[in-house]
Amino acid sequence: MKATKKIGIFDSGYGGLTILSSLIKELPDYDYIYLGDNARTPYGTRSFETIYKYSLQATKKLFEMDCQIIIFACNTASAKALRSIQQNDLPKIDSTYRVLGVIRPSVEEIENLTQTNHVGILGTTGTVKSMSYPIEIKKLYPHIKVSQQACPMWVPLVENREYNTEGGKFFIQKSIEKLLSEDKKIDTIILGCTHYPIIEDIIKQYIPENIKLISQGSIIAESFKDYLRRHPEFESLCSKNSSVQFYTTESNKGFEENAGVFLNKKIYANTLVLG
Ligand code: DGL
Repeated sequence: MKATKKIGIFDSGYGGLTILSSLIKELPDYDYIYLGDNARTPYGTRSFETIYKYSLQATKKLFEMDCQIIIFACNTASAKALRSIQQNDLPKIDSTYRVLGVIRPSVEEIENLTQTNHVGILGTTGTVKSMSYPIEIKKLYPHIKVSQQACPMWVPLVENREYNTEGGKFFIQKSIEKLLSEDKKIDTIILGCTHYPIIEDIIKQYIPENIKLISQGSIIAESFKDYLRRHPEFESLCSKNSSVQFYTTESNKGFEENAGVFLNKKIYANTLVLG
């Protein structure tokens, strides 16, 4: 059978680009379709029902566009919608399709990262409230203490490119200080939102040097590479022309400009409607 299938990457906006970049670096041959729901970002402050509805719409759209596997490059969608979609919707849509998230692979890495066994998670309100990180970490590594801090301003700061302002930096510093004041023994902080690596240079300014700051990109790329190795039945369906198509639910011109800055190269995008 001819390999025609693409790999779908979905996020509420620009954050998934940080995952896409790492995937392209690690697995350059495959064909990717990126979908950012920029018109409805941020997801992090929305209800479970809304995040589930939006994520399911994006999932169906990417399957229609010939994706066999979709990566939710969004912690909020991974925390709030992934399991329901995997268990309830995929069997009805097509049981050979797959949707993968970013939380579990990140959690699996945690033990290799911390020495004090005190870890901090920065994420959206939705991710933090879902308790996905503490629950998953407890299952695998019950000896690790987890502190979390929601950063509700950070995604809007990235989406609007307002992070490099005095006001933007104020909110960034405030959330970091809150997290660090909760547990003085934290030696590792996971950026549990795919938007945050875009502002990593600013975040670093407020984090003591002895604390490791972990972005998910390379973790997800490594884990997905391993997934394809373990699933040749899916890998063999994926086409390999090293292409990336970009779709947004907002203006394609705005997306091209901002994504171009975040990816450091010129890109072309199309607008589509979800729902
Ligand atoms: N990139 C998404 C995440 O990883 C941001 C969600 C949002 O839109 O608030 O959680």
